Amino acid sequence: MKKVCFFALLVIAQLSESDVMAQKKDNVDMAKLVKDNFAFADSQYRYMMKQVPQDKMPQSYEEKNKKFVAYQRTWWCTGFYPGALWYIYEQTGDPVIKGEAERTLKVIEPNKTYTGNHDLGFMMYCSFGNAYRITRNESYKDIIIQSAAALASRYRPLAKVIQSWNTNQYFKGPVIIDNMMNLELLYWTSLNGGDAKYKDIAVTHSNTTLQHHFRPDFSSYHVIDYNMQTGDVIRKATWQGAADCSAWSRGQGWGLYGYVMMYRFSKDQRYLDHARKIASFILGHPNLPQDKIPYWDFDAPYIPHAKRDASAGAVIASALLELGQYTKGAEKEKYVSNAKDMIVSLSGEKYKAKLGENGGFLLKHSTGALPSNSEVDVPLIYADYYYLEALKRYKDWYL
Ligand code: GLY
Repeated sequence: MKKVCFFALLVIAQLSESDVMAQKKDNVDMAKLVKDNFAFADSQYRYMMKQVPQDKMPQSYEEKNKKFVAYQRTWWCTGFYPGALWYIYEQTGDPVIKGEAERTLKVIEPNKTYTGNHDLGFMMYCSFGNAYRITRNESYKDIIIQSAAALASRYRPLAKVIQSWNTNQYFKGPVIIDNMMNLELLYWTSLNGGDAKYKDIAVTHSNTTLQHHFRPDFSSYHVIDYNMQTGDVIRKATWQGAADCSAWSRGQGWGLYGYVMMYRFSKDQRYLDHARKIASFILGHPNLPQDKIPYWDFDAPYIPHAKRDASAGAVIASALLELGQYTKGAEKEKYVSNAKDMIVSLSGEKYKAKLGENGGFLLKHSTGALPSNSEVDVPLIYADYYYLEALKRYKDWYL
């Protein structure tokens, strides 16, 4: 009997040793993947830098016309290029990349008082937030605090939400799921010298969004149109998705990332549970392709021939890695291994550009707004940003 037990233990020990060996090899492979891709990003962005107009920020590249697309500073994406540069500089220490990161911050700094829409978090936290995290330069912190005040000016207390877009011909009081991302600017600011009311706004907006934005299967609508005087929901709709009732892929990513981030700050269990349910919707969806990079909408027509959205893959990968930080055992393993699959796919031949191609962007095959025939199957700056963030998170937390 003793002998049998001894052999059983030996087998288990050997098995777990081989598991450890496999895990070690896996880590080494991922360590190399992360290192190689930051080195590539450094070279590719040095190439991109040469095409960036001095007063604009990179957005995309039109392969057919060989046209580099850049937008003026109040476009919602203008924080991603500076943010991506800071992520690269943090890993490579390249002073040229740092110089470009500092230059671009100056271009977008006037956004700190911009109140034209809700995108201040994307614009000012992805950029100045990373700059402050890395450099501890107090002047960056002041800019973040001013930006939070600008965003908070869009809070509508009667409806308990931050209004995303101004009233227009389609919507009276639109709030989009993307808005969850901007709450990071508010919550962080309250915890770092800013007014405590910003955190309260972030919590209230998250709670209202929990109430109205999600369906029974935990997919989300893109746009909820509110009566800002009463908080009544006028309409549940889409702008960038395939249909009002469809699950626009990047929106599912914004929702997942947003509730994981809100749990990070608040430790409110409801946010964590909600993030888990969104993750289950995404990872369990029959239309999630084998390479784990979503079609532009989970309900897109013509699947499996529909266009992909690499940006949704990058956002979801980054969010899943953080969700892995707050979960244990098999559940954690599920989030991390799915995120890893997404990172590996994005780093492969199909999605990753070659040096000097793709206008200098890292990733191909993102989709901005297919129903408007805008930015379909192109590089997009925010796909690069969240891809770099996912690489950093994998390295910091799982290697
Ligand atoms: N926030 C706009 C978008 O995701 O396209």
